Amino acid sequence: MDAEKIFLEYAERYDRRNGKINLKIIHTLAVVQVMDQLTEKLHLDEETCELAHICAMFHDIGRFEQVRRYDTFLDHLSVDHAELGCEVLKQERILAELSSEKQQRILTAVRNHNRYQIEPGLEGHTELLCRLIRDADKCDIFRVFACEDMVDTMGETEEQVAEETVTDVVYDSIMRHQCVKKEERKTGLDKWVSFLGFFFDMNFSQSLEILMEERYYRAPFDRTRFTVPETRERVEKILKETEKYIRERIDLQLP
Ligand SMILES: [Fe+2]
Repeated sequence: MDAEKIFLEYAERYDRRNGKINLKIIHTLAVVQVMDQLTEKLHLDEETCELAHICAMFHDIGRFEQVRRYDTFLDHLSVDHAELGCEVLKQERILAELSSEKQQRILTAVRNHNRYQIEPGLEGHTELLCRLIRDADKCDIFRVFACEDMVDTMGETEEQVAEETVTDVVYDSIMRHQCVKKEERKTGLDKWVSFLGFFFDMNFSQSLEILMEERYYRAPFDRTRFTVPETRERVEKILKETEKYIRERIDLQLP
């Protein structure tokens, strides 16, 4: 199937002059690119590569209706955009030309792409798709973070974040190589730092290699002059610890 054509035709129904819509079109196409790179690095079979490509193309299809209905990307204030995406895929019969087994695998991966953890008990091939889409999506989040409008994406300007602090529990999570829980984030800077926690949740060291090619994850920290001395110190320690973790995992190629 020509997934890109189907995706772009669907997206055309929404107003691209809306920054949020435009952002999601660019994000989707970038995730697809990362996904193709990742599946190649992993030497996966043709069918898995094809399904992974389709998952990447449609993983955020629910974002368009979410923005139109609620004008926000915040799921807790609107809907779970992954669940909504599955509804859209079914209602629009977007996957209709695929076998029902393939459709189910794609829907499961889309549904799981934004969860804290992948639902337990999935069949091996489907679980692999979930792991792939979660990694590819996270990789591009760093590009969005570095290059797109901070207010559109994070809801706060860099000048505001420059005056904030890193909450203790968030700092401790990162230093222990643990993902930051959404509810633990108090400041905008906590949100920035929580992105670095994604590194610890990457399923494939090849995803970390892709991330290290551009180093987008550093850019917003590097260009912000934090006004609180303790914050500056914490940010430096956090970046150092994160990069140590990445280097070790790439060297060891784990898993
Ligand atoms: Fe998403």
